[in-house]
Amino acid sequence: MIWSGTFITFEGPDGSGKSTQAGLLAQRLESLGIDVVLTREPGGTPLGERVRRVLLDRDGVRHAARADALLFAAARAQHVDDVIWPALRRGAVVICDRYADSTVAYQGYGSGVPLDRLRELGAFATRGVRPNRTILLDVPVDAGLARRSAGEPEGLTRFETADTFDAAFHERVREGFLELARIEPTRWLVVDADRPADAIARDVFGAIAELLQLTHEAG
Ligand code: TYD
Repeated sequence: MIWSGTFITFEGPDGSGKSTQAGLLAQRLESLGIDVVLTREPGGTPLGERVRRVLLDRDGVRHAARADALLFAAARAQHVDDVIWPALRRGAVVICDRYADSTVAYQGYGSGVPLDRLRELGAFATRGVRPNRTILLDVPVDAGLARRSAGEPEGLTRFETADTFDAAFHERVREGFLELARIEPTRWLVVDADRPADAIARDVFGAIAELLQLTHEAG
């Protein structure tokens, strides 16, 4: 599919600071007068926010990994149709906090759902709308966890609470993201996110300015 906008996604393990960085990038691009749409997954539409609650609530309900993959994909399909695709078509820069790569990393590398099936599911859910650039905010698992536990306990998802936290799972997710970045190096940019937010933001903005061919002061 062809569009005139630019699609940027942020990916990374829990606690890598994606939401902060996605917000900072959006603000900076907006301050340059660029039409920016900042959104997130799971969520981004009324249906997506409902599915998000089903997926992330710590309600003790058992979830098979395949069921999770399908639920994330359902939210994504709505998000592409209602938010991402219309914005790209009108020429906006769309910044999305997590997208189809998260399903491959979490449900695939993390939980063992076959990767090829998840790629098919991703293509189906997204109608082939793929990011122009994906920023991987990479942090060691324990650093990410420490960051998340320092925040509001209510903000923790079912993947993160102490009773269910599985370090080996999160390690596989991290390695999975790094492998995805190695497979497709022209799309991915790996950023060391175990650093202060302003240093990360500088690297992210530098890469996106280059992508958008903005003339900018790197500082
Ligand atoms: P969220 O609160 O958005 O966490 P974060 O701030 O770390 O992005 O919760 C999203 C959780 O859902 C996170 O643990 C990653 C997981 N997830 C998947 O397992 N598969 C997916 O396809 C997506 C989009 C998220």
